[in-house]
Amino acid sequence: MSKNYEMRPLATATLAALLFIASSGCAGFRRASESDIEYWERRAREHGARSVLNLGHTAAELEEITRLQADILFPILRRHLRGHEKVVLDFGSGPGRFTPGLAAVVGGRAIGVDPIQSLLDLAPRAPGVEYKRIENGRIPLADRSVDVVWISLVLGTITEQSALRQSVAEVERVLRDGGLLFLVENTAERRDKRHFEFRPVEFYASIFPSIPMIQHVGDYYDFGERISVMVGRKMGGPASADKGP
Ligand SMILES: C[S@@+](CC[C@H](N)C(=O)[O-])C[C@H]1O[C@@H](n2cnc3c(N)ncnc32)[C@H](O)[C@@H]1O
Repeated sequence: MSKNYEMRPLATATLAALLFIASSGCAGFRRASESDIEYWERRAREHGARSVLNLGHTAAELEEITRLQADILFPILRRHLRGHEKVVLDFGSGPGRFTPGLAAVVGGRAIGVDPIQSLLDLAPRAPGVEYKRIENGRIPLADRSVDVVWISLVLGTITEQSALRQSVAEVERVLRDGGLLFLVENTAERRDKRHFEFRPVEFYASIFPSIPMIQHVGDYYDFGERISVMVGRKMGGPASADKGP
């Protein structure tokens, strides 16, 4: 395991050190001529499942890093479930590091979606788990068909503003009224990279028109960069859904 990788329990907002992500210290950088998607296609081709990590990590670390992240994030997710959720969308699932675990957390189904087919091809098959490709920015699911949307370090990689707006609209479209958004993003105060934007919690809290009350519920740190966990509920749905995340 990398010397840079340290983790403590996520009990307060002072959590220290996890690992990962595609945002910090990556060896791969987007070329000026590449779109976001072209960049991810190349990155996936060159690095396989490891492409979703900070490329300072070795492929051998992927499993342990994923387990450590799940140990931080799944308990937070569980605390925000209401017990009736059956379908989770893993938006930007990449090689499905969390998708089977998400199905297990809700005791139902998880659907991983990503625009990069070669990453979806690497994803683990499991009961209750399926993967679908995002084409032309569209999530291939019906309106209001999922109870929870999980997004782990995806929106920061969408640097094109029109694509970000479309992703937000698609997430809101497929999430049922009163459904839960669980969002994990790098909110470090750093200068953006060509392939990754560092945006504050306030930015993410303001971009979902149908999810107006997004709360910042925790942080962990990766190489000193703050990774923030945010939750919110889509408006509408049963009265119980109005109590907040
Ligand atoms: C840092 S990786 C995170 C992958 C996965 N969520 C995880 O935590 O392992 C970013 C993912 O976002 C995907 N992605 C890039 N652009 C996207 C878009 N416009 N819509 C959905 N996913 C996108 C990439 O293909 C990649 O799988």
